[in-house]
Amino acid sequence: MDSHTVLYGVIGDPIRHSKSPIMLNRAFKETGVNGAYGAFHVASERLGDAINGIRALGFRGLNVTIPHKIEVMAYLDDIDESARAIGAVNTIVNDGGRLVGFNTDGIGYVRSLMEEAEPDLAGKRIVVVGAGGASRGILWALARQRPGAVWLANRTQDKASELADDLGGKANSIEAIPWERLREACGEADIVVNTTSVGMSPNVEAVPLDPAWLKPGAVASDLIYNPLTTAFLEGARQQGCRIHGGLGMFVYQGAYAFEYWTGLPAPVAAMREAVLESFG
Ligand code: ATR
Repeated sequence: MDSHTVLYGVIGDPIRHSKSPIMLNRAFKETGVNGAYGAFHVASERLGDAINGIRALGFRGLNVTIPHKIEVMAYLDDIDESARAIGAVNTIVNDGGRLVGFNTDGIGYVRSLMEEAEPDLAGKRIVVVGAGGASRGILWALARQRPGAVWLANRTQDKASELADDLGGKANSIEAIPWERLREACGEADIVVNTTSVGMSPNVEAVPLDPAWLKPGAVASDLIYNPLTTAFLEGARQQGCRIHGGLGMFVYQGAYAFEYWTGLPAPVAAMREAVLESFG
């Protein structure tokens, strides 16, 4: 670090568990970029001050995590079309004083899915379980890959219907289905994605659905990366499914942010390694 170092960071509440500094600082080191990335604990009532702070200090980029991904949009100068459609921002680029919001969660997930599990999503039937914050970007990004169908199921049915409508519904191949039809849909699906928190540490035995519902050869995908593999994924593996864990989404959402900020290709393998090392 010296007086030319360009600053980056992540804001959230809580934030001390974040692996983003380890991952992005490794990316800077690997590519020889003179950058430094920190984690900043920002409570909701200080969000506006924090954004003014990065303007004043000339940060080049910022990641935004829970609980600020929606509220932060009010403080930006421009919002990329996809982030606007998704309704959330996780990456800010400071373009000569103009703060522009992007969302790399959904595209990060899809890039990871395509590189690690299923290279061609066209025509595929995909079940997405869960209609919370994590689900939105993923549905949007999946819908752009010309899938055969995206069936959205949520324990609270109304939230699935609202979210499907919000993202263009059937015109975008997204269809909310009743929770009771989840079993049948999983049996017909090529890919089943868990976007709920069910199975996350410390409740690692819990499953969002019975993995035996998936057909052999289908892809079981989980956004959870702590633990690295979940009871849902392990059950599906025993069923003869291909499995796709959540670490790749985390790595690729950071890789896209790195690429937007620096214009350089992200050193994805080194970034993944840095996160894995931090798990010990
Ligand atoms: P995130 O931002 O991580 O998506 P969220 O917005 O709180 O978090 O959403 C959590 C999702 O997990 C929701 O879809 C939630 O279902 P409800 O809308 O019915 O609450 C889902 N979820 C959480 N616990 C669940 C459980 N035990 N069974 C099924 N779904 C669950």
